Amino acid sequence: MAILVTGGAGYIGSHTVVELQNAGYDVVVLDNLSNSSEKSLERVEKITGKKVTFYKADILDREALEEIFNKEQIECVIHFAGLKAVGESVAKPWEYYQNNVAGTLILVDVMRQHGVKNIIFSSSSTVYGMPDAIPVTEKSPKKDCTNPYGWTKSMLEQILSDIQKADPEWNVILLRYFNPIGAHQSGTIGENPNGIPNNLMPYITQVAVGKRPELGIFGNDYNTPDGTGVRDYIHVVDLADGHVKALKKVQENAGLCIYNLGTGVGYSVLDLVKTFEETTGVKIPYSIKERRAGDIDANYADATKAKEELGWEAKYGVKEMCADSWRWQSQNPNGYED
Ligand code: NAD
Ligand code: UD1
Repeated sequence: MAILVTGGAGYIGSHTVVELQNAGYDVVVLDNLSNSSEKSLERVEKITGKKVTFYKADILDREALEEIFNKEQIECVIHFAGLKAVGESVAKPWEYYQNNVAGTLILVDVMRQHGVKNIIFSSSSTVYGMPDAIPVTEKSPKKDCTNPYGWTKSMLEQILSDIQKADPEWNVILLRYFNPIGAHQSGTIGENPNGIPNNLMPYITQVAVGKRPELGIFGNDYNTPDGTGVRDYIHVVDLADGHVKALKKVQENAGLCIYNLGTGVGYSVLDLVKTFEETTGVKIPYSIKERRAGDIDANYADATKAKEELGWEAKYGVKEMCADSWRWQSQNPNGYED
């Protein structure tokens, strides 16, 4: 029996394939490569010394999915495939709802027709919107999202929960990621954004490697200790391990489970810049810009539930995150094109 990883050639997916293979699981990857390169999987194979079965396929393509489920013995799907650029989702809402929501509906339909009723889904802390109190627990209310990307996550959580409620044979594990950064310690796989990075760490590493002149910090008048936004950064290898641990709940037939995956510690933009500089010895020039629409002051996780129920806890701190992000970027200035 194998684990099907949709979006497995992407940033979090490729790191999760490594941890799954290291834990002894057989892995099948499906990806349409719309935001990734097959080279990531070649590098995964080098890290683990194991073969990855890969299908270049789209989750919207029912026939292709049928073929994979007919051919492979899938016991659980870890579902990363989706579009994730917040700004783009505002400009192209139809494309985001079609790809993320319609794609998942097709995937889940093919799964149930093949008797595969186990899914681990990539959700996001974005479902908490502007939280009333931090740290947020899984019981904190879901709020309005500020963009269509966020809504696809919120809606898919609801859809998968309703499917599990109607058919308790389903195990649905919703993992709410905080801010994944870092890269595999080998420096051979990592985040590879197209164009100008939206997120903070890839922007910092692109400034560090000389691709961009300076970092723009979006606002220094937030209600936080130094005025810049506070987030819960989590090492992508810890996040990947959270998926391996979440499989335990599938094996226990636990039904619907929701977990925050974060470290429980908040760092400001300036904290992250300072830690990056101290860890790598590379200076990051920056200037303060206007606030970015939709940003919140601060958010970080209460990850007690994942610790108690999954035995999962983040092992790496922000220094390791900075060092590993930098190793990946400096060894691969052009991502997988190097
Ligand atoms: P990524 O873009 O690197 O990976 C997503 C992968 O899905 C890509 O390889 C892409 O080619 C593939 N894909 C997209 N649409 C597809 C389709 N229709 N059919 C087949 N493959 C398709 O992104 P990531 O950072 O690894 O994120 C993985 C998941 O985690 C996404 O669902 C994302 O929304 C979610 N998530 C990411 C973050 C983050 O900060 N990176 C935070 C919270 C949640
Ligand atoms: C963003 C998304 C969120 C998504 C998450 C992970 C928004 C509003 N939210 O979260 O939906 O799940 O990414 O993909 O886009 N910053 C700068 N300069 C930059 C980039 C970021 O100052 O060039 C600041 C931001 O204002 C924020 C912090 O850095 O305070 C982190 O930003 P980012 O990495 O984009 O993550 P989020 O905003 O938390």
